[in-house]
Amino acid sequence: MSRLVVVSNRIATPPKGDPSRHSTGGLAVALQEALQAEGGIWFGWSGHTAEEPSLTPSVSTVGRITYAQIDLSPTDHEEYYNGYANATLWPLFHYRLDLAEFRRVTYAAYRRVNIQFARGLAPLLRDDDVVWIHDYHLIPLAGELRHLGFHGRIGFFLHTPFPVPEVLTALPNWGDIGRALCAHDLIGFQTPTDCEAFVRLVDHHLGGETLGNGQVRLDGRTVHAECFPIGLDLESMRERDDTSSAARLLEKSINGRALIIGVDRLDYSKGLPQRFEAFGALLDMAPDLLNKVVMMQIAPPSRTDVTDYQAIRAELERIAGHVNGAHSDLDWTPLRYLNRGFSRRVLADLFRIARVGLVTPLRDGMNLVAKEYVAAQSPDDPGVLVLSHFAGAAVELGGGAVLVNPHDIEGTADRLRGALTMGLDERKARWENMMAILRRNTITAWRKAFLAALG
Ligand code: ADP
Ligand code: F6P
Repeated sequence: MSRLVVVSNRIATPPKGDPSRHSTGGLAVALQEALQAEGGIWFGWSGHTAEEPSLTPSVSTVGRITYAQIDLSPTDHEEYYNGYANATLWPLFHYRLDLAEFRRVTYAAYRRVNIQFARGLAPLLRDDDVVWIHDYHLIPLAGELRHLGFHGRIGFFLHTPFPVPEVLTALPNWGDIGRALCAHDLIGFQTPTDCEAFVRLVDHHLGGETLGNGQVRLDGRTVHAECFPIGLDLESMRERDDTSSAARLLEKSINGRALIIGVDRLDYSKGLPQRFEAFGALLDMAPDLLNKVVMMQIAPPSRTDVTDYQAIRAELERIAGHVNGAHSDLDWTPLRYLNRGFSRRVLADLFRIARVGLVTPLRDGMNLVAKEYVAAQSPDDPGVLVLSHFAGAAVELGGGAVLVNPHDIEGTADRLRGALTMGLDERKARWENMMAILRRNTITAWRKAFLAALG
């Protein structure tokens, strides 16, 4: 059987130590499962910088996973990770052309780091390995591995949205990015819309051709593009006999009030200012809810060296202060805002206490939090998922979630009110609808489907 080699910029380090430092992000959570099941190598950035990083990865094996990690130089970290990956591709792929920076120096670093990844990885590869590359940081890697003589199967999965060509082509090097994607054998997307955008890019803009059944052909290579919506390990959100002390503390402190929960990396794509505004609008429009509802937003800082991430943090502090200043009472703080991470175990308990899971990204590849909130609910008394139309998860969960347009603050407030007062029968029916999908499309099913298609 072929060995699996997973490559991603961020890799989850072996689980140990302080849970608040655990890697937060859908990618790390998903790949941990895939590798634990299949065994193999996980190659990526160590999370550290070094003045003169070695090209040879440091290697350690825990259980079935061999972690191979390389450091980045401070300049590469700044220009490749903070720069091209997170100040160019991330905003562009999330339709935030207004935030995307286009700089030659960061693009050069992006290419350079992808070459470093290829040079670090190539000596570890065997001919019959199956290589599975993840996310926008590493689009050129497959081409670099091919240059170094690797001819085995290479798959790519994009965890973010893939923008329509009308947006992507604002990128000065869009042609290179599109062609680099075509060096893979299989490209996986989260939603049919993302997949169609890629096929249209190749067909209409790069001069390739569509062969049908998700196959496109460019420069003599055939690439298969398919939608593989990422799923969950339902077991990790299951109710346990012993509730965590954090959840007991929260339950005591809300004192019978209805809880609305949000859990996201502190990222401008997650629609947090609009979410806070919508909660403020709810309190303005529904005096009967005063002192009866609490919203808790958990948002650990992310990519803190990137200016737009610093700006979103300051903006959120301002809006939270405003909402609380306008509505708090001696015994009630309506909006709680925590900048820290929690273990998955604790998160599951917190989700279960919440009457509403509020997940309102302006654009999101999938949004695993939406699925986690649903999976954590008690079947006898499930809460309601209020979900943005613009999350990839809305494609699967649209039949059971209360869908909102996060740009429409008053509309979101209205629907939040409806969610808070929804009767048990409707809550159960909606929850069953969503759970049926989550049971079918688990993280295991996702991995198996992708690897089977990669063959
Ligand atoms: P993204 O990949 O953009 O961060 P997702 O919602 O798809 O968004 O994935 C986020 C993952 O990170 C989820 O599995 C979620 O549980 C986890 N996560 C987010 N915030 C926290 C937090 N404060 N503590 C622990 N895990 C978190
Ligand atoms: O899932 C999207 C994603 O960008 C992953 O690629 C990434 O690991 C995660 O979010 C968290 O971001 P970062 O690795 O920049 O902390």
